[in-house]
Amino acid sequence: MTENTLVAPTLWASTLANQIANRTARVGIVGLGYVGLPLAVELAKAGFSVTGIDLIESKVARINAGDSYVQDVPAAEVHSLVEARRLRATTDFAVIADLDTINICVPTPLRKTKDPDMSCIMSACREIAKFFHPGMLAILESTTYPGTTDEVVLPMLSDSGMQVGRDFFLCFSPERVDPGNAQFQTRNIPKVVGGVTPACTEMGARFYAQALEKVVPVSSTQVAEMVKLLENTFRMINIGLVNELAVMCDRIGINIWEVIDAAATKPFGFMPFYPGPGLGGHCIPVDPFYLSWKTRQAGVEARFIELAGYVNGHMPHFVVEKVQNALNDRGRAVKGSRIHILGVAYKRDIDDVRESPALDVIHLLKQRGARVTFTDPYVPTLRVDGEDLFSADFSESLQAADCVVIITDHTAINYQAVARYANLIVDTRNTLRGVVSDKIIRL
Ligand SMILES: NC(=O)c1ccc[n+]([C@@H]2O[C@H](COP(=O)([O-])OP(=O)(O)OC[C@H]3O[C@@H](n4cnc5c(N)ncnc54)[C@H](O)[C@@H]3O)[C@@H](O)[C@H]2O)c1
Repeated sequence: MTENTLVAPTLWASTLANQIANRTARVGIVGLGYVGLPLAVELAKAGFSVTGIDLIESKVARINAGDSYVQDVPAAEVHSLVEARRLRATTDFAVIADLDTINICVPTPLRKTKDPDMSCIMSACREIAKFFHPGMLAILESTTYPGTTDEVVLPMLSDSGMQVGRDFFLCFSPERVDPGNAQFQTRNIPKVVGGVTPACTEMGARFYAQALEKVVPVSSTQVAEMVKLLENTFRMINIGLVNELAVMCDRIGINIWEVIDAAATKPFGFMPFYPGPGLGGHCIPVDPFYLSWKTRQAGVEARFIELAGYVNGHMPHFVVEKVQNALNDRGRAVKGSRIHILGVAYKRDIDDVRESPALDVIHLLKQRGARVTFTDPYVPTLRVDGEDLFSADFSESLQAADCVVIITDHTAINYQAVARYANLIVDTRNTLRGVVSDKIIRL
């Protein structure tokens, strides 16, 4: 794309397109978490001057000190970008007055009622609006329900009488980052972007194309919002299906893992998903409920989502039932037994415990009177039911426990030692595949 092909060649559009093309645009990122910090670093590496804005002073201080608190972002990269004055962070939204672009990467959790909690988007936009000015590009990246960008963000940013697509540009671009994934990171995950107007889409696409390998423009913000919800709903439902099949296979004495491995040899029309102790993380258990909330307003029940949510939510109970049966078969009760959890992060090789099924499993075991300990190479402390638990010594805990429960299959754990020294193992991830032993109970 060249400047001449601009859909709406207004003065603001031409100026911003030029600033983007020669990377003199001053870039802002609001929300410096798992999504915002990697994006900020990628844009700074591309040559932009990037300012991150966050509410948490300790995060801002660590970035300005050249440090990183996100596992996938090496501290050395932050350090060299800060040194080169291409990256800095602040808690002060007033810097937006001097910026040309702003990406919004704030959390979108659920309320207890499973309704969307839009408070972070709303408060970020309120602050941005105070300093938003003509010629700016704003892009919402937080996962949300279709319609958010046009119905919530646009009115807040066009308050000052500016016209979208002419005086400023607004897009939605779903963040697809997968923490802990060494192959696909911010730079090489294709970036979907949809604008409020064609000129907005074009500006957003030009912006990302400077730093990321592939940009996928779509026709509207709603399509871009829905793309993310399709992806995560697809995962949630398929995991729900395979979790239900795991419970069925358990009841009728079939090894689900062997079934999936054999089915996965089909070269077309099948994609393997694996059962586990339940859904975790900030996305898969949360995002589909943004969609079901939205469709409920339109009178459509999202039945697959509700059902998968129910099945996945039951998995920690199923795991505890397996622990209980395994102990009972050996003449012991859960009450008073020492149960050691291996891995509490919500997935392999990361340090994030948000919505981790380990929290539910530990809660349920404690409720039944078990003495619960854990080891996780990435998580030093864990708060469950108001109590702080500390990651315990791996070797000592293996032998001391009446039962070891593998919840998260971190690669750094020595599973040979687990198979050898643990008295009883409930393996929810088939980590000990191929090991034949009466003391291993698989999901
Ligand atoms: N973590 C992931 O793997 C992932 C992947 C894809 C999409 N997402 C989505 O991206 C969004 C961000 O997720 P995350 O994991 O980076 O969250 P996070 O909690 O790691 O980071 C969000 C940051 O935003 C800051 N923040 C909150 N409110 C703010 C405000 N009003 N102004 C400025 N900063 C504010 C927080 O202090 C925090 O540092 C969410 O919508 C999430 O669903 C996350």
